[in-house]
Amino acid sequence: MTEPEQWWRHAVVYQVYLRSFADGDGDGTGDLTGLRSRLAYLADLGVDALWVNPWYPSPLKDGGYDVADYRDIHPQFGTLADAEALVAQAHALGLRVLADIVPNHTSDQHRWFVEALAAGPGSPARDRYWFVDGRGPRGDEPPTDWPSVFGGGAWTRVTEPDGRPGQWYLHLFDASQPDLNWGNPQVVAEFEDILRFWFDRGVDGFRIDVGHGLAKDPSLPDLGLSGSSEALLAVPHGDDHPYWDRPEVHAVYRGWRAVGDSYDPPRVFVGEVWLDEPARLAHYLRPDELHTSFAFELTDPDWDAARFRAAIDAAVAAAAVARAPVTWVLSNHDLPRHVSRYGRPPAERERFGAAAYDFTGLDVALGRRRARAAAMLSLALPGSVYLYQGEELGLEEVLDIADELRDDPIFARSGGTLPGRDGCRVPLPWEPRGDSLGFGSNGAWLPQPRSWADLAASVQAADPTSMLALYRRALARRRAEPALVSDGFAWRPGPPSVLAFVRGEGEDAVEVLVNLGPDPVDAPAGEVLLASHDLADGQVPPDAAVWVRAGREPASDPAPPA
Ligand code: GLC
Repeated sequence: MTEPEQWWRHAVVYQVYLRSFADGDGDGTGDLTGLRSRLAYLADLGVDALWVNPWYPSPLKDGGYDVADYRDIHPQFGTLADAEALVAQAHALGLRVLADIVPNHTSDQHRWFVEALAAGPGSPARDRYWFVDGRGPRGDEPPTDWPSVFGGGAWTRVTEPDGRPGQWYLHLFDASQPDLNWGNPQVVAEFEDILRFWFDRGVDGFRIDVGHGLAKDPSLPDLGLSGSSEALLAVPHGDDHPYWDRPEVHAVYRGWRAVGDSYDPPRVFVGEVWLDEPARLAHYLRPDELHTSFAFELTDPDWDAARFRAAIDAAVAAAAVARAPVTWVLSNHDLPRHVSRYGRPPAERERFGAAAYDFTGLDVALGRRRARAAAMLSLALPGSVYLYQGEELGLEEVLDIADELRDDPIFARSGGTLPGRDGCRVPLPWEPRGDSLGFGSNGAWLPQPRSWADLAASVQAADPTSMLALYRRALARRRAEPALVSDGFAWRPGPPSVLAFVRGEGEDAVEVLVNLGPDPVDAPAGEVLLASHDLADGQVPPDAAVWVRAGREPASDPAPPA
């Protein structure tokens, strides 16, 4: 039995990429008024909570992950009163709200950074960041060889108040995102206070940005890499990496957990922690640290059963060590949409970098078909699930954005060699008509493909065979079946191209089968609870999934499965 305060163990959380969700004031950018106007849609969808990407005042150099003031709302998105109204309205609908906290870096417009630039070398203001003298006789070489995750180097030189070329500051991401010094107690205290600020306003928890970052080795050793990495967040980790997954970060999360636990009900955390060894995730999930942390394993494989099986095993094993729930993700605002990932020929490739954006041989219809099965896979696995806005509509990655409209700093910092993440951030289609398909009254900050008129939420809501209808049914079924929110999970034997497992035990157990192979396979015996596609003669066609309750005989007049 799950206690009410443990709702996060099996929650389905909907990720709202605010600028692209719904535009309430007609400026072409999504906002809190737009989100509030669509909360009923999220309640109808059947999710338990939403996570809202950063909403703070920001120059928006990295879509808001460059925060200038952690205690306010960007005027483009609304006001603090709007945020409080959002939380209240969501709570009234039974939805919890998670905000997004960005502790690794601030914006260069944050008052602390402005103060640090003015205060000069050796000042307490500079000690909140990583200001260091350069190497070489004139100090004109960067202090280390560290690459920026977004391309280029991780250090930028400043001009001192007296006009001379001066120190360098660290930015693991864009130059507009200076890294904070978590060895400075003021930084620690400030963020605990920011957490309280939002918890006091009813926010139910936080998603933690770059949760494997924050701590740095103060001796600033070189990495010894040859050339600079162009891959987002994909720098190799190790036991003693100078800036990823360092042991000091755990004290920060212990402090945060204590703050969250001091509230009634306790507030919760989900970490964005990218590690190349899933087993290390357990350290973040210790009972006095984070409640959950994304399992990104499912975002790796293209459509291949063996790779999915290995990914699931790795994620389950990592979370089991800490007795934490696995937190499944198929897509988010940093990754190409999974409809497009599954619609291309399978390959071994890195999550980020050029190969991630190679869509040679893409068949979107095939990808969309597979995405139905993938949704049923992720929603049937033990743990909690995050859905990325638009996946319930089956949206594909938008590939043909004009260079001048590309907004992601990765595009510019890679010299245009990487397209960046805009293709998964295109505003949602709500209606089949209108110049932004119901997103707002006056265009959208990134143009939507016209073909998305057919994928509009209102169109799909009226079509029982749509992706949206499938998600609604799957979420309702997940709520209704204790087996699907239990801890019970065991693989069933089956052909190599099939993923078959059972959830729960006894009469209520649910058998799950996903067919990733080219031939139909027999469905498990029992009552079909949900199928991604029509089952012909009791067989699951290729690229389809089924949930079956094995303990009971099929009803004599079964309801249509799809
Ligand atoms: C995280 C965010 C990503 C952002 C980066 C830097 O990975 O998800 O969107 O660019 O952190 O804050």
